[in-house]
Amino acid sequence: MTTIPVMAPYGRHIFICTGSFCDPEGKAQQLYTRLARKLGELGHYDNPERVKRGVTPCLGVCSGGPIVVVYPDGVWYHHVDETVLDRIIEEHLHNDQPVEEYIFHRLGEKMIEAW
Ligand code: FES
Repeated sequence: MTTIPVMAPYGRHIFICTGSFCDPEGKAQQLYTRLARKLGELGHYDNPERVKRGVTPCLGVCSGGPIVVVYPDGVWYHHVDETVLDRIIEEHLHNDQPVEEYIFHRLGEKMIEAW
């Protein structure tokens, strides 16, 4: 018999790219660890607004990292360091105000004519 997985409710999912092309100094893994410590109640398993977190080897950007993306918002951040991550947690995840100056893309946004 097949066991169907069970998913606890959550509100957002945040991914951090740990690939060496966008993060040659290897800072992303530390951000991932910091995220676990800083999420507070947003990291609690029984919170329906819970923020799941994950790392990925590449998000298809490959420069300007560490790259962080927040779903389902589809908001993409570049050059995320500890200070910027803390702002993303407080301003975006807690207060629904994305950190505009570090956003380089939004889901559904047309690419700027840069060719
Ligand atoms: S290596 Fe980070 S986006 Fe590709």
